[in-house]
Amino acid sequence: MNLVLLGPPGAGKGTQAARLTTEYQIPKLSTGEILRELAQGDGELSRQVAELIDRGRMVPDPVVLDLVWDRLKQPDAQAGFLLDGFPRTVAQAEALERFLRERQRPLTAALDLEVDEDELIRRLSGRRVCPRCETSYHLVSRPPRVEDRCDRDGVPLEQRADDYPEAIRERLNAYHQRTEPVLDYYRVAGLLRPINGDQPVGEVTQQIREVLEGSSAQQVPSSSGVQGPEHLST
Ligand code: AP5
Repeated sequence: MNLVLLGPPGAGKGTQAARLTTEYQIPKLSTGEILRELAQGDGELSRQVAELIDRGRMVPDPVVLDLVWDRLKQPDAQAGFLLDGFPRTVAQAEALERFLRERQRPLTAALDLEVDEDELIRRLSGRRVCPRCETSYHLVSRPPRVEDRCDRDGVPLEQRADDYPEAIRERLNAYHQRTEPVLDYYRVAGLLRPINGDQPVGEVTQQIREVLEGSSAQQVPSSSGVQGPEHLST
């Protein structure tokens, strides 16, 4: 199963990715997590990436693509993968298509979590994350068992720098301008699967399960990755 998980900031991509990778036994590749790890480093690239993320801006495509290809070439990603937060520009989607076509590994589906904007802002501003294992909580809808502590490792929870109002606005703008065209890209390719992300976490997972059962049944044998509209630009 080769999956792409799309959706605006706060739609629940990370939450669903954690559940789906366990259920389908495929590795999750979260570009947000990989980039935050890179941002912890000492060099100039790490400093630039940290600044972009904290301000809610996108990291340039070439930086992201190198990281994704490295991860997709790892042995554990050969039997399937779940891409969380990638692609988020049409150029990234086209590059992914070329990468997969060369390896004859077609995408199974592009799942799109749909959530309205007021709910996204509520989710992002109430989110707290574990800096060690990246488990995501919400002050109201998914509080930890012990206040401000991760259920898994007891580490104090933090608020992400990009979960403050100005960065949230930037991220939503970037999503509308640069990521929404990716939805059209996968719609034209016949791979887009809209999911109602505005329901309880377990129900979102259940809808994804049902959609994937349908996608596997319908999967058309193909030697290419995605029959995407190459003419779309960022
Ligand atoms: P990334 O970490 O991918 O951030 P994002 O896409 O903005 O998504 P989030 O992680 O904020 O939200 P999510 O959809 O995963 O929701 P979550 O499950 O946490 O990227 C960060 C940055 O890295 C980007 O801004 C950019 O700078 C850079 N970057 C990353 N990828 C890039 C790329 N490909 N190209 C260029 N730059 C890139 O849930 C959110 C909250 O809601 C949580 O509190 C959770 O508990 C709660 N929640 C989840 N589901 C539900 C539900 N069903 N009901 C109620 N609450 C829920």
